[in-house]
Amino acid sequence: MHISDKFSKIIEQEKIYYPLFSKKEFVAIRGKGALLYDEAGNEYIDCVAGHAVMNIGHCHPKFIQLMKKQLEKIVFVPPDFPTEERASLLDKLTHITPKKLSCVFLSNSGTESIEAAIKLILSAKREIKRPEIIAFKRAFHGRTLGSLALTHNMRYRKPYLPWLTPNVKFASFGDIDSVKNLITDHTVGIVIELIQGEGGIYCAPEEFPKELRELCDEKDLILVIDEVQTGFGRTGKMFAFEHYGIEPDILCLAKAIAGGFPMGATLSTDDIFSRMKPGEHGTTYGGNPFACAAANAAIDIIMEEKLVENAAKQGKKMLLELKAFSEEKNHVIREVRGKGLMIGVEYRMKVKELIQRAEKLGVLLLNAGLTVIRLLPPLVLTDEQVKKIINVMLQIST
Ligand SMILES: Cc1ncc(COP(=O)(O)O)c(C=O)c1O
Repeated sequence: MHISDKFSKIIEQEKIYYPLFSKKEFVAIRGKGALLYDEAGNEYIDCVAGHAVMNIGHCHPKFIQLMKKQLEKIVFVPPDFPTEERASLLDKLTHITPKKLSCVFLSNSGTESIEAAIKLILSAKREIKRPEIIAFKRAFHGRTLGSLALTHNMRYRKPYLPWLTPNVKFASFGDIDSVKNLITDHTVGIVIELIQGEGGIYCAPEEFPKELRELCDEKDLILVIDEVQTGFGRTGKMFAFEHYGIEPDILCLAKAIAGGFPMGATLSTDDIFSRMKPGEHGTTYGGNPFACAAANAAIDIIMEEKLVENAAKQGKKMLLELKAFSEEKNHVIREVRGKGLMIGVEYRMKVKELIQRAEKLGVLLLNAGLTVIRLLPPLVLTDEQVKKIINVMLQIST
């Protein structure tokens, strides 16, 4: 791929930015819907979608228009200033989530939404001396020190172990007995992704979430569902818990919530929230009017354009086709998993080179670990684009 001097310079300058990321060898210049374009004019179907952020697609016309208007109106006031943008977002969030989740804390990222959830659990159960939380093997909840304590992968944990609380226990995902075995008098809550994203796209078995809910009710434990990656239509329902017929006590949201602007949200019952005292938690940027306007716009677009339904439809088609060809290619592909437009294809080999080949063929893919390709395209995906993705997946799997 030809990279002009200007863009070689950008790539060179980028090297001093957070060298921990392995970066793409092209410069993303612009996007439109499910498509991204690089400096050389190459077009890609973006199945990365900013790691499940761009559910409404890139540069949605209505989003652009509303954001321009908001820039001219008001960008920032701190959290103690009421604004119509935040009032409207709080109303929206509490309407699209279960009624019992009547309190909302707004922050700026997924990991912050988890940190708030941890503090909400601990403050609600402050009478327990050494409170323990149960999380799951393969879980990913973020990289700050609280959320990292709930994240299972040693690759992320190891250097920071001295600062990670020993009061998190990891159960086997999908195995209710393994959860029961970890419960003690100190257990205060359970934190789960119903579809594990970073861990490799593993969907909770059908009955497991209900069993967990019953267990939490029986033992008076707080159930936190992390929908940072699965939320806002990604799985073919607005939230993944809807697939399983359960409701959380605390719900963590981020990524797609504000159409690409940083935002996290932690929703909880009034009972849990009211036990945290004023000043015990907070953030300067959280819930600012610009981010709230972005979230209002993104959520409206998701609902008005029936993107949840489109994710269900296109996801079903993709999953069926991928499963069909995985049977023919079972010497290469181990398993295809997922719901809606959150799909994982597990190979019998490392996928790094396959992802690079797909890029040359015009499809951007994401890995989850060494052997899983993750497909998380924008929910505006068209029939034509689905065909091309399947075609490219076929080509790289031979
Ligand atoms: C399920 C889940 N929780 C939490 C996070 C952390 O979100 P952030 O990267 O915005 O801090 C992620 C990020 O990938 C995630 O997938």
